[in-house]
Order: sequence, then C-alpha cells, then structure tokens
Amino acid sequence: MSRPRIFDKPLTATERQQRWRAKQKHPKTVIKKARSLLKQQGQTKRAARRTRIVEIAKNNVPLSTNQLYPVVYVDPPWEMNNYPTQFFSRAVPYPTLTDDELCALPVAAITTPDAILFIWTTAPKLPQCLCIITSWGFEYVTCMAWVKSRISCGWWVRNQHELLLIARKGNPPYPEPADRPPSVIHAPTRKHSQKPDEVYKIIEKMYPEFPKIELFARKARDGWDSWGNEI
Ligand SMILES: C[S@@+](CC[C@H](N)C(=O)[O-])C[C@H]1O[C@@H](n2cnc3c(N)ncnc32)[C@H](O)[C@@H]1O
Repeated sequence: MSRPRIFDKPLTATERQQRWRAKQKHPKTVIKKARSLLKQQGQTKRAARRTRIVEIAKNNVPLSTNQLYPVVYVDPPWEMNNYPTQFFSRAVPYPTLTDDELCALPVAAITTPDAILFIWTTAPKLPQCLCIITSWGFEYVTCMAWVKSRISCGWWVRNQHELLLIARKGNPPYPEPADRPPSVIHAPTRKHSQKPDEVYKIIEKMYPEFPKIELFARKARDGWDSWGNEI
C-alpha cells in the first residue's frame, strides 16, 4: 500500500484499517521467525546435551566398598524436576540420580563407624537431602552457606546461596577450635554446579589427618580419593 502524500485526501476508515493491518503483518512475521529460530536452537542444544549425558554415563562404575573413610564430601547430581525442560534448554549438563537412587548408595559401607559427612544441597532439595543423610546412617548436625557472586532465578526467591550440610555417624571428634571455619563462604559462581575450591581447604583444615573421599567429583584432588563419572 503506497504512503499518502501531503495534501492527499484524508484516508477513509477502511483505508486506515488496511494500513494498520499491513503494519501488523511485518512485526508478526518477524516474531514468528524468531520463535521458530529459538525453538530450533533449543532442540539442537537439547540433542547435544542428551548425547553428552550418554557419553558421561558410559564412565559409570559402582562405588567400591573396599576402603573405609572417616570423611566423605558429596555433591549429588540432583534431578531438577522443577525445570520445564520441554520449553527451556536449562537443565543439568550431566546424568542425574533420583532421590531413591541417591539413598541407595552404599555410603554406610564406605565409612568408618565414626565419620563426618559434608553434603551439598540447594534450598529446595533440603528435605530430600536430610532423608539421604539418614538413609546413609548419618545424623544432621549443622550447615554452612555458600553465598554466590551471581544471583540466579527462583519461583519464590531469587537464589544466591547453596547449603553444605554437615552430618555425623557415631562419635567423630570435633575439629580443633582454631580449625573451625566460619559458617558462611563467600566465593564466586563459576561453571554449572562447580563448587568453590575453598571447601577442600576448609575440610582439610578441619580434619587434616583423616582419609577423605569425594563422591560425584569432577576432578581429582591430591590427598583425596575421588569417585565420579566426569573425572
Ligand atoms: C553436581 S555435579 C558435581 C560437581 C562438582 N562438585 C564440581 O564442583 O565440579 C555431579 C556429578 O556427578 C556425576 N554423576 C552423575 N551420576 C553419576 C553416577 N552414577 N556415578 C558417578 N558419577 C555420577 C555427574 O556426571 C556430575 O559430574
């Protein structure tokens, strides 16, 4: 439709409507194209993530119960079932385990009668984490909070912290007073699920002599045993 020139006759109501419809047409096409592009990108990302998860899971090995540890550090691969993954490509980039599968891990069988457990949880997973602690034969004693440098999203509050719960089995010794850390860790947010390296140092300072194992580790650490399918 051609543009009316100055001094042209005023447009009729029908012409005005035709013009309005023509204007709408263009943005709608653009939005439609953008939506379909985003959908395609989401599908590609999800397919790549699925392939990667299958590859990682090929490294799964059962947790060996040949050795006993008084210190266990765990960062579980929680299922994030509150993400509507059919719409968002935001989901964990590694295989996850259900709460029942986590409860069934033989942690009781790899720990000494007196032992300390450090286990990460997000605030929404707190009840499940407490159940897991109990099913591994431990009793919750306290927790630390990691305050992240980056704020995230959330349904009720925007998350900016994660919890490191501490639990005991039997009667392990308390750390020396000088080796007791503050309950808050301020550390930068890094890649997905990556926890601050400071935590290793904190645990090493609390229990310098005790043999330690990290479950669901993504990298080996000197002086520790590690178990995980991404090491
Ligand atoms: C939350 S991430 C751990 C992140 C780690 N703490 C860090 O700071 O980088 C959980 C890890 O558990 C691994 N995992 C999932 N299922 C596993 C299984 N059945 N056996 C061993 N590792 C598994 C995942 O692939 C992932 O590397």
